[in-house]
Amino acid sequence: MSAAERLAVAPLLDVVRARLADEPGQLTPHRVAVALREAGRPVGDATVLAVHEQLRREVLGAGPLDPLLRLPGVTDVLVNGPDAVYVDTGDGLRLTEVGFDDDAGVRRLAQRLAAQAGRRLDDAVPYVDARLPDGTRFHAVLAPVARPGTLLSLRVPGRRRLDLDDLLAARAVTPAGARLLARVVERRLAFLVSGGTGSGKTTLLGALLGLVPGHERMVLVEDASELRPDHPHVVALEARPANVEGAGEVPLRTLVRQALRMRPDRLVVGEVRGAEVVDLLAALNTGHEGGCGTLHANSASDVVARVEALAQAAGLPREAAHSQMAAALDVVLHLGRGSDGRRMLTEVAVLGRRDDGLVVAEPAVAVDDDGRLRDRGGADRLADLLDGSRS
Ligand SMILES: Nc1ncnc2c1ncn2[C@@H]1O[C@H](COP(=O)(O)OP(=O)(O)OP(=O)(O)O)[C@@H](O)[C@H]1O
Ligand SMILES: [Mg+2]
Repeated sequence: MSAAERLAVAPLLDVVRARLADEPGQLTPHRVAVALREAGRPVGDATVLAVHEQLRREVLGAGPLDPLLRLPGVTDVLVNGPDAVYVDTGDGLRLTEVGFDDDAGVRRLAQRLAAQAGRRLDDAVPYVDARLPDGTRFHAVLAPVARPGTLLSLRVPGRRRLDLDDLLAARAVTPAGARLLARVVERRLAFLVSGGTGSGKTTLLGALLGLVPGHERMVLVEDASELRPDHPHVVALEARPANVEGAGEVPLRTLVRQALRMRPDRLVVGEVRGAEVVDLLAALNTGHEGGCGTLHANSASDVVARVEALAQAAGLPREAAHSQMAAALDVVLHLGRGSDGRRMLTEVAVLGRRDDGLVVAEPAVAVDDDGRLRDRGGADRLADLLDGSRS
């Protein structure tokens, strides 16, 4: 659908959604046409088909999970076999009334969703990690590998993008913390956002990318497209797994290399989790400033070990990994949880080299539970980086 068509279709979607919600049934072009006519909006066939297609994409076809996936504020839906379905609508996991007749039902749904993403899921390879057409991240492991039954994990993309003001309002960062983060972006420092699973890494990265000056060209490289920064000049590359025949894979690593030929002012790797770390470090070592990404790590100081492990697994010797890291990365922004469970920036660390040449992440700022920033050993180095006395 062209942009113009999308614009024409958008106002009709709500009309049809409202009409169809009144009488549930199969979504067909005919019903769409009738609904529009009854609403006093008769349109041509092409528009009917465009509205139908758009609505069809909205309906995931996740069977009993569909109502959960439509809950306001839903972030995760987890299925632990046929008898336990959990949902998180922003305040932790909650067991729901939803269930399946038996594990075969869960398995069928898992296979159907996998097929929607063009992936295979069967006893030969009983797990899948994919993105559904609407952007939902979908993971499944079939029983009996999984217990107590087939396990599904769905991560629903935020309907609303959170910006730095939203993060301030959610007390994920303090005003002083936000100023520090803005300065990191402004100074074009290379940074990684670290934290545990679901700690808000991608969200914070997206918010920070919204601060990048509009004249800069941003190239995003992602495994599954999640980042939608509020910025006028963003292009994105999305990795692709091999198809059912095992062909056609486009790995992240290849895309990082492609991105470098696209004249990025900012190179962004959504989530660094494999061999692409080598290409990212190489890129940042060859004059591509302002690179950034997220990395799964339990503390800022773990980031070095994690990068080292990924780089070594990709064949880069330890010393090389450390010298590249030292030259490539400036700061680590670490996310954790406050005592009340809220996601928050807990630490900023600077990367430096020890006498033996190995890189360490030295804490520069620690954020208290009450939001106060406290200087740590690396504070002076961080100040140097931020005030621009660096070359
Ligand atoms: N500060 C925040 N306050 C409330 N909700 C948040 C906050 N940050 C992120 N979220 C929500 O938490 C969920 C997980 O966030 P996000 O995807 O950014 O985490 P992540 O660390 O990148 O996760 P993963 O480890 O899966 O990559 C999202 O639904 C997001 O909208
Ligand atoms: Mg993420």
